[in-house]
Amino acid sequence: MAAAEQIKSLIKSFSEGDNSRFYATAMQIAAAEARKGHQELAEELKKLIQDSKKLKIKESKIKRLAVNPAQKELNDLLEFSRPDDKLKDMVLSMKLNKSIQRVLDEQCQIEKLRQHNLFPRKKLLLTGPPGCGKTMTARVISNELSIPLFVIRLDGLISRYMGESIAKLRLVFDTMKEFRAVYLFDEFDSIGTNRSQGNEVGEIKRVLNSFLLQIEKDDSNSLIIAATNIPENLDEALFRRFDDIINYPLPTEEQIFKYYKREFLNNKLINNNVLIELSKKSIGLNFSDLEKICQDFLKNIIIYGEEESSLEFLFEVIDSRKTSF
Ligand SMILES: Nc1ncnc2c1ncn2[C@@H]1O[C@H](COP(=O)(O)OP(=O)(O)OP(=O)(O)O)[C@@H](O)[C@H]1O
Ligand SMILES: [Mg+2]
Repeated sequence: MAAAEQIKSLIKSFSEGDNSRFYATAMQIAAAEARKGHQELAEELKKLIQDSKKLKIKESKIKRLAVNPAQKELNDLLEFSRPDDKLKDMVLSMKLNKSIQRVLDEQCQIEKLRQHNLFPRKKLLLTGPPGCGKTMTARVISNELSIPLFVIRLDGLISRYMGESIAKLRLVFDTMKEFRAVYLFDEFDSIGTNRSQGNEVGEIKRVLNSFLLQIEKDDSNSLIIAATNIPENLDEALFRRFDDIINYPLPTEEQIFKYYKREFLNNKLINNNVLIELSKKSIGLNFSDLEKICQDFLKNIIIYGEEESSLEFLFEVIDSRKTSF
């Protein structure tokens, strides 16, 4: 039998539509069963969780866009999703939290602002090292505003449509007017810098100029988010086109602690002192690493049982993540 707290957490997360907490609790129940030697049940639970996750992903992806003209072309350019990430899922500094909340608040008051001839923030440049929450922020904004997320991979656009990329980019900006959504230009460095060589350089410059022009005259209700790891290489002209430039640094020790505390909520092995030690040891890692560390630990319990899943193992996982860069 799963602990009463876990059952309560399952029901609560289900009723609040909090998928990530629901799955985390279900995984914890599976791990607890494995620890009690109920391997078969643990396996069965794990499979149920995996199947359910797959189904959710399928549901959240709409294969076709409801646009009549150039439908096929758009499907190739934009990756559509309906994320379910919430702002409260993110571990953020007060400053970062405020910046995102501000965007959400202004977006929620579009009509009121327009009555005063004012416009909500909608063009964001997100910068910072990998795995620190840039893409997640785009997912959160999309979910919190209940509008879809479209991801545009500019590097793919340029290499696939040599000679035609400007026309394709224009199509994306036209779509913004028709469809209120979050448009995420991921890997933005692929046009924002002059790092590329060979015959793509001219094309990239043209795409950058076209992007500058389009973003300047954009008056749609959509949000435009560009994400980059290397803002220092970006063309100067880009910065003033955005309403906000938001930086995502690596998590601090305090934030790592908060993250682990939430993930290891029901794990009896991990008390406050262990959490402090784990957090110190993990300084320098990004959130994506922390996520993988927690998953590795849970998987280990499920597959090999508690004896093989000691704290020693957890520290080893952290070490191997740290030495992998
Ligand atoms: N602030 C955060 N709080 C909690 N989890 C986070 C946070 N930031 C990132 N994560 C976790 O790390 C994963 C990777 O983050 P994300 O994809 O947003 O990184 P990114 O900054 O876009 O990296 P890249 O530059 O490589 O694209 C997320 O899916 C999420 O699980
Ligand atoms: Mg990203």
